[in-house]
Amino acid sequence: MSSIRLTKTINSRMKIKASLFDLDGVVVDTACYHYLAWKKIANDLGFDFSEHDNERLKGISRMESLDILLEIGKIKVDFRTKEELAATKNSMYVSYINKMTPDEILPGVIRFLDELRNEGILIALGSASKNAMSILDRINIAQKFDVVIDGNKVSKAKPDPEVFLKGASELGIEPQDCLVFEDAQAGIDAARNGGMHIIGVGQPENLKNADHVIPGFEKMNLDLLRSWYP
Ligand code: G6P
Ligand code: MG
Repeated sequence: MSSIRLTKTINSRMKIKASLFDLDGVVVDTACYHYLAWKKIANDLGFDFSEHDNERLKGISRMESLDILLEIGKIKVDFRTKEELAATKNSMYVSYINKMTPDEILPGVIRFLDELRNEGILIALGSASKNAMSILDRINIAQKFDVVIDGNKVSKAKPDPEVFLKGASELGIEPQDCLVFEDAQAGIDAARNGGMHIIGVGQPENLKNADHVIPGFEKMNLDLLRSWYP
């Protein structure tokens, strides 16, 4: 797929002209597959890895996640072993995502993406994952995004704003007219560093500095968006 697929000119009269979605934990609950794979790596290395610890890995690149995991386990390994551990984690993760189906798209996401499109608000994906495109294809949702920026297209991980700024730039929208949906603190910080509006998806205690926090997309709609960003 080409990185850009603008099917609509911008006709929204809303303040928000573009929306940028994180993937893992926002569009689909792949966060649980990342967790299961990292937990197995930790257990094989002889330590436990809790869901609480896993919050620190959300939104963070694969190698940075491994660094944090090893720090939690107080384990030091050489670079080659790190590469092997990251590859083992990824092959476990890929075996989970290869079994995904469109049923795993989180409730309300498709309806809300369609509402945004009908309003003329552009839609991008902004994910640190190098597996993002294969997940989008697997769950048959790639065509909903005008632009996809994934871990293969960025060199700086969240909280650096690169992934979202690239998305905004490919969409041709100024950062201050963009709204990011994120489930990770690193992603909230990335959007904030990029000068964008931010809605956190998840529990407010894990998502500091978002403009608003929603538990998911079931109750999210354009009227609510208009009331928050008049
Ligand atoms: C997302 C997830 C992270 C993950 C990262 C890299 O941002 O929230 O937990 O580490 O992507 O994913 P990848 O599929 O490239 O290992
Ligand atoms: Mg996420």
